[in-house]
Amino acid sequence: MVNSVAPYEATPEHIEVERVITASICHVREGIFAQMENIRAASLRNNAIHDIHAVLLHQSGWFLHWVEGPSQSVRGLLRHLAGDPRHHSPRTVHTSQGRRILPTPWSMMMSQTTEPAAHFGHRVVSLHEQFEQGTQHAPSSVLRRLSAPMQLAQAQGLPDIEAFHRVGICAAGGNEAFEMINWLAVQLGGTVARRRFAGEQDMDGSSNSVDFMDGPHPCRMIAVARNGLAHGLRRAFLPDWPHFVMLFCGTPRFDDALMARMAAACEGLPVTPTLLGIAPDDATHQRMQDMAHGAHLAYIAANTARPDDYHAIWLAVHEQLQRAGEPPSSVWEMPRLVA
Ligand SMILES: Cc1cc2nc3c(=O)[nH]c(=O)nc-3n(C[C@H](O)[C@H](O)[C@H](O)COP(=O)(O)O)c2cc1C
Repeated sequence: MVNSVAPYEATPEHIEVERVITASICHVREGIFAQMENIRAASLRNNAIHDIHAVLLHQSGWFLHWVEGPSQSVRGLLRHLAGDPRHHSPRTVHTSQGRRILPTPWSMMMSQTTEPAAHFGHRVVSLHEQFEQGTQHAPSSVLRRLSAPMQLAQAQGLPDIEAFHRVGICAAGGNEAFEMINWLAVQLGGTVARRRFAGEQDMDGSSNSVDFMDGPHPCRMIAVARNGLAHGLRRAFLPDWPHFVMLFCGTPRFDDALMARMAAACEGLPVTPTLLGIAPDDATHQRMQDMAHGAHLAYIAANTARPDDYHAIWLAVHEQLQRAGEPPSSVWEMPRLVA
């Protein structure tokens, strides 16, 4: 299924920006953490001055840099980056114009995968070739295709590799969202992928995910740390997640704080996930529903259960995915920007 309207077209109330995504080979042999910190410090100084928002991802010896801003600023930055000895062989994999997708001047991600650089490189070359031939994908889809493609064997023959159910999950009080990913991996035989995120300040958080089949449909569940909800890169991906499970614990202080974080994360997004609430009692569901309603978010009381009742959580998610039917694609009509 292709979304009929590109959700990020600039309408009169939005400033139009240029977006460019570049993949380059990392030339930092040691101390990649320290170098990412240096790049973050420089970017925080420069990007805000030039009205630029950017994301930097490091994985398997590659950098992915997604930058958005006024055309002149973006092109100036890319010229400047070409001379940075910490990377080489840049390849453009996306260019477009429209409203801003990245909500913050800087965020970055480091993947803990052990995948060899050559495998990552194959995907870059393939996407770059498609781009050169005039086909490209939405920015979030480009990042996912390169850094976290659906790799389940059962999904490989499907016509659209991006058409899989994406379900976020976050817990109000404890570590249950991450435990749910581990539980699913054990139950359904998947492996857990681990990533670390960082934002403008010290907003470091992790995000683990697991891929599995639910009947004929490939699915991915992604656990998000509470502080990770505000992260720019995370927010840029929320519109691609039709469902988001929220595990409430019944303590209003924690539950309200999580719903408030979710409302803040969704503010200004063109599309927001349906919230699937798991709460230990009806009163909590009612309060969360009211808060969600106040923030114009759809809330479903998916199950009344404790946040560590993984079987009950799974039953609720499975039921919603069955209802959803075919997983949506993230493919938009996206004309390439001519330089
Ligand atoms: C892959 C990659 C992405 C980068 N992204 C940015 C960025 O978005 N903004 C920025 O100011 N510097 C970025 N840098 C760092 C710049 O290349 C440069 O070191 C920095 O702007 C400081 O430049 P200056 O010493 O001339 O002030 C990036 C570097 C690399 C290797």
